Amino acid sequence: MVSLHHTDPELAGLLDAEVTQQNSTLAMVASASIADPSVLAVGGSALSNVTAEGYPGARYHPGAQQFDAVENLAVERAKHLFGARYANVQPHSCSSANLAVLAALMRPGDTLLGLDLDAGGHLTHGSPASVTGRHYHAVSYGLDESGRIDYARLTDLVLEHRPRVLIAGASAYPRLIDFARFRAIADIAGAYLLADISHIAGLVAAGRHPSPVDVAHITTTSTYKQLGGPRGGLILSGREYKTPGPDGRTPLHRLMQRAVFPQSQGTPSPASIAAKARAFAAAAEPAFQETARLIVHNARALAQELSALGHRILTGGTDNHMVLIDVTDFGLSGVVAERALEECGILANRNRIPGDTKPPLVTSGLRLGTNILAQRGMDAAQMRVCAQLLHTVLAGTTAQSDTEYRIDPALVAQVRAEVQWLCSRHPLPIDTAHRVPVSLIGVGT
Ligand SMILES: Cc1ncc(COP(=O)(O)O)c(C=O)c1O
Repeated sequence: MVSLHHTDPELAGLLDAEVTQQNSTLAMVASASIADPSVLAVGGSALSNVTAEGYPGARYHPGAQQFDAVENLAVERAKHLFGARYANVQPHSCSSANLAVLAALMRPGDTLLGLDLDAGGHLTHGSPASVTGRHYHAVSYGLDESGRIDYARLTDLVLEHRPRVLIAGASAYPRLIDFARFRAIADIAGAYLLADISHIAGLVAAGRHPSPVDVAHITTTSTYKQLGGPRGGLILSGREYKTPGPDGRTPLHRLMQRAVFPQSQGTPSPASIAAKARAFAAAAEPAFQETARLIVHNARALAQELSALGHRILTGGTDNHMVLIDVTDFGLSGVVAERALEECGILANRNRIPGDTKPPLVTSGLRLGTNILAQRGMDAAQMRVCAQLLHTVLAGTTAQSDTEYRIDPALVAQVRAEVQWLCSRHPLPIDTAHRVPVSLIGVGT
């Protein structure tokens, strides 16, 4: 960074500004966490210069000695963290992991059953907007009246459509996922169960959410949402790792290796894999367990506080890191709520909610997450403050249309000041680690 300030001050300035912004805003984006400075450093290391397709010991390029050792380390740490028997650390994201897994288990036109996007599912679970909705015959299940997964209807759908793959996992679902029940339902039709734990991987690793690793055939996750890792994906398998794939012969672990390389990816990202190895080790430490405890504890506290302030909390509460609220009761759309909060220094994203009548870029809901609040060491007392700040902004915003709003500038200034005060008392680890001291700018070359 010292050198960058000399060679490219414009870019260095933008990166510094990002650190300042992250440190002084209250980030409640449920799909985000803060990577430890060691993870960021490893992700930017010279290992990135290695080009080596293939797997450790079987590369298609020379010069991969260190990379082989790093990838083996990442695989072993991933297996240890999740109690898995197989891990593939090469996927560049969870989307690419899901696409690889599905391509290995299904032929075009086979039936895929996943949670509906409007009910909290992910694009790669069969949405028409994704290749998964176009290449496969995608059918979706939804929620019951209480907002929880409708397992009875899911059973009917499995009996009716006999899917090749059933996906358990969500992008916007605040309750526990009963993976064992999913497996029993998948077994009715002999379907493979894919558990996508992108959002809850940290809670699973810390034992705060039941693990699907030995229950599902395959488990996938992003490494940055709740694991404090780099951008990237991960494929895991537990007891089923030797179960035959659709050809009746090839074990799942071998299918998954091929599914990633050569079937869907080229060169892996060595420094990202090293950063994953670092993050998996950090997630196995007691401090991470404490963060995971705080994540759940804070989400519950936030939901209770917001409910007491008159907000409608979907499902009436939460079991994980996420709180979903319907903002239409306050006369707002999701995007208006998101923008008004951002103006005040609070980041939370719009979200479709069951039965939503507004378009995907507008929505009726807001999704809050407590990963970063917990990483900042905030507790129930700070959740009261956060809920009050959220409420002050949402109640003080007047929608002029689905996308435009008015808010008193004095209110914005007041909330921004309170947000900064709160953040200054709970700084992020990146602040001191990443900012280049002014005294050093002008020294380096
Ligand atoms: C459940 C779920 N699966 C997969 C993904 C995709 O993850 P990535 O951003 O790593 O591609 C997301 C991201 O939003 C998600 O919520």
